[in-house]
Amino acid sequence: MDPCIPFRPQRTAVSSLPIILVVDDERQSQEALRRVLSDEFRVLTASNASEAETVLSSEMVHAILCDQRMPGTQGVEFLKSVRERWPDPVRMIISGYTASEDIIAGINEAGIYQYITKPWEPDDLVRTIKEALTLLELQQANASASLDLKMAPAALETAVATKTTSLRRAHHFDRIVHHAKSPLADIIDMAGRVAAFDISVLITGESGTGKELLARAIHYNSPRGDKPFVVENCGALPDQLLESELFGCKKGAFTGAYEDRIGLFEQANGGTIFLDEIGETSPAFQVKLLRVLQEGEIRPLGARLTRKVDVRVIAATNRTLEDEVREKHFRRDLYYRLAAFPLHIPPLRERPMDIHLLAERLLAETRKGFGKPVRAFSDDALAVLKSYDWPGNVRELQNEIQRMVALAETDMLELELVSPRIRARACPGGRAIAESHQRRTLKDQVEALEAQILGDALTRHRWNISRVADELGLSRVGLRAKLNRYGLERTG
Ligand SMILES: Nc1ncnc2c1ncn2[C@@H]1O[C@H](COP(=O)(O)OP(=O)(O)OP(=O)(O)O)[C@@H](O)[C@H]1O
Ligand SMILES: [Mg+2]
Repeated sequence: MDPCIPFRPQRTAVSSLPIILVVDDERQSQEALRRVLSDEFRVLTASNASEAETVLSSEMVHAILCDQRMPGTQGVEFLKSVRERWPDPVRMIISGYTASEDIIAGINEAGIYQYITKPWEPDDLVRTIKEALTLLELQQANASASLDLKMAPAALETAVATKTTSLRRAHHFDRIVHHAKSPLADIIDMAGRVAAFDISVLITGESGTGKELLARAIHYNSPRGDKPFVVENCGALPDQLLESELFGCKKGAFTGAYEDRIGLFEQANGGTIFLDEIGETSPAFQVKLLRVLQEGEIRPLGARLTRKVDVRVIAATNRTLEDEVREKHFRRDLYYRLAAFPLHIPPLRERPMDIHLLAERLLAETRKGFGKPVRAFSDDALAVLKSYDWPGNVRELQNEIQRMVALAETDMLELELVSPRIRARACPGGRAIAESHQRRTLKDQVEALEAQILGDALTRHRWNISRVADELGLSRVGLRAKLNRYGLERTG
């Protein structure tokens, strides 16, 4: 749903020469290219597609020069598959033949930057590759933008500017759906006011409430909005890898550091880094992060020298960080550094007035994405969606609507398309079975679970009562009694 293409961390080699991969089955051609290119570039070679894939899996290749005529896969076909797995390197074809119609179509699909015909002029070839790498750099400078490398540099710069404007528009605070009376309105107002200033922001809220969405809006509406917005999920990696991702590393700094790596702090220079799941980090890592924030400089693992960085930090967590501080799981000094401006996004169940608007927006987006002419929700479907308590928040609502649209056979989203587990736990016309889990009696909870299990089994067996009864060890009569009790019926 997010219109922005998420930033993919670049494994950028710090070694001075850009890496060119030559794919050619003829040793002589490989050697000729190596001779011409090795002054300016680090040249790696492969004799076929599978060797080339091995190189691409282990090296940070900047550009690929591929022969069109190879035994097995043709060059263009191969580059098409490369584009899917490794979209970053600039792709170029060398061929002794002029391009035929089908090759031209393939060139577009493979996003090939240049079709070089044999015999090539050494100086021309070096110049072409250098130009291609300049484009690659420009493209990486605006890390959030995915741009077509076939453009000339001037056109590319204009495209970067246009892309930045459209990113700013796509991430405007207006795009965060909420009702005027929602508690979210105040949060968005505060976020809009702090965006302009270089203050660290800590966003808290349950999973799926829109923390990253808000962080992006703050970045793209700040003076840093035309610089990179870089995301790191701090909960997903062990300390050493997290440090090398964030601060960079020198080749050999630890087992597995096969190459020099520029850290995300450096890649985000001038922009914003979003440190998601900050509450999951270890005390040892917290000390290191604190030092970086205090001193404004990073030291890549294994490096002797530090580097200055100018990065705004927005952190997020679904934990209550004050509690973590009290329990000494999170450093107090780091907490105050990160939470200069705290923002809390309430869960969806505390702002039910947003559900209708969100459902409509998500339906519009899904309809467009799936290309299905689904018009609207039926009243009873909407009533159920509005009365459910959405423990997975907006993301769960989004998943539910995508599921409904995918299954829809008419232009209306009817009640029967709502997942049985949601139908079972919601009471149309009122709030969900219970407002909060604490206040639900054991009986309520057992019944909700029973209804959910029934609903799931019914969906799995497409409402074949005999099979469901069989699976759950019930008689058909017993099963029917339970369906009546929970109001589970196949509508439509
Ligand atoms: N108010 C909103 N308006 C429109 N879309 C929203 C809103 N809130 C959340 N979303 C959408 O819901 C999805 C989840 O949001 P997001 O990833 O920002 O949540 P999160 O709090 O970062 O979740 P997690 O803690 O699981 O990482 C995204 O696709 C986001 O665009
Ligand atoms: Mg998130």
